[in-house]
Amino acid sequence: MIPLFAFEDATCRNLADTHGTPCFVYSGAAAEAQFSSLRAVLPSRVRLAYAVKANPHPGLLARFAALGASFDCASMGELARVGALMLPPGRTFFAGPGKRAEELRKALAMGVRVQAEGCEDLARIDALADRDVAVNLRVHPAFEVDEGNRIIGGSGPSAFGVDEEDVPELLQRAASLRHVRIQGLHVFAASNQRDASKLLAIHGAVLGLAKRLSEAHGFVFEQIDLGGGLGVPYAVDERPLDLISFGQGLSTLLTQHAWFTGELILEPGRFLAGPCGIYLARVVRIKESRGTRFAILEGGINHLIRPLLTGQPFPVKAVGKGQGSRPYTLAGPLCTSLDRLGDVRLPELQAGDLLAFGTTGAYGLSEGMTHFLSHPVPPEVWVD
Ligand SMILES: Cc1ncc(COP(=O)(O)O)c(C=O)c1O
Repeated sequence: MIPLFAFEDATCRNLADTHGTPCFVYSGAAAEAQFSSLRAVLPSRVRLAYAVKANPHPGLLARFAALGASFDCASMGELARVGALMLPPGRTFFAGPGKRAEELRKALAMGVRVQAEGCEDLARIDALADRDVAVNLRVHPAFEVDEGNRIIGGSGPSAFGVDEEDVPELLQRAASLRHVRIQGLHVFAASNQRDASKLLAIHGAVLGLAKRLSEAHGFVFEQIDLGGGLGVPYAVDERPLDLISFGQGLSTLLTQHAWFTGELILEPGRFLAGPCGIYLARVVRIKESRGTRFAILEGGINHLIRPLLTGQPFPVKAVGKGQGSRPYTLAGPLCTSLDRLGDVRLPELQAGDLLAFGTTGAYGLSEGMTHFLSHPVPPEVWVD
């Protein structure tokens, strides 16, 4: 069972005393255990590319790199962080619906495999390239996507990839390009999925799509990138992903799709980084208001915006206080009633008590909007 909290209570207390609160703490050992447990069940023909957006902390990137990870980047900032690892060619990918020219230029200079999101990406890469460049084509599939939140956005209109039904037109328009060669397929159609059979059904549908595209258009895919989406529990009653079934299922899919002799790529972010992190924050005060008991904390959605965006709270414990069941609304210090981290049951709390939010190694501080995807912070220009 993957623990919801990467650290025991005594360690949480020491970390808070040593580093002050609020703070995020990541466990290298937990990250390594998580990576190794997944790697161990995957067929050798599956490449594991960590999705840097989940948490771009340099310690985490270095640890995963040492374990043999490849990396999925989605901005210049992420490419720079991964570039600093000095990896051999072939271990970095570049995705994202709004790639700017300088980002594409950097990706080409680094020899990174680009996930082209459509005709414009193909044309711009072609114009920038001075030799043949292999790219993967990101396709937005027509099949229904089963997801509990709005990360993927279902099978309706999408900012991501080329719609499956528009591939023939894209190929016609791309026929005149000189340097770009579509040698891989990228489909990302799952999010926080803990049910191995549902994940495998999606991956099976992607392989089916790859086969149809190969037969119809003569693609020879050397890579099929299945994206991220491997889920983790956020509550004690949620079961973790059954890794053994998942690994065996991928082997079966590879056997069923014997026509495909290339490499499968998985790009998990949440699964690899989530369980290694905690967020520590103290209670500033308790307030009762019209029947609701608020615990007002040192940090809120400025550090953990995910509960507001997805309605899914992070698990929380009161350090050193055991179990308890008084209802609390957790509020942050911001002057907005949107600053809520969840309605929870905790032991009796008082000012100064330490709370630990688990599974915050992914999409925690990294999802704070000016941080997200390591995009540059825009300058503020004063004109008088
Ligand atoms: C292209 C791509 N790959 C991988 C991921 C990682 O997804 P997850 O953290 O759910 O595994 C994302 C997340 O948005 C993504 O956009």
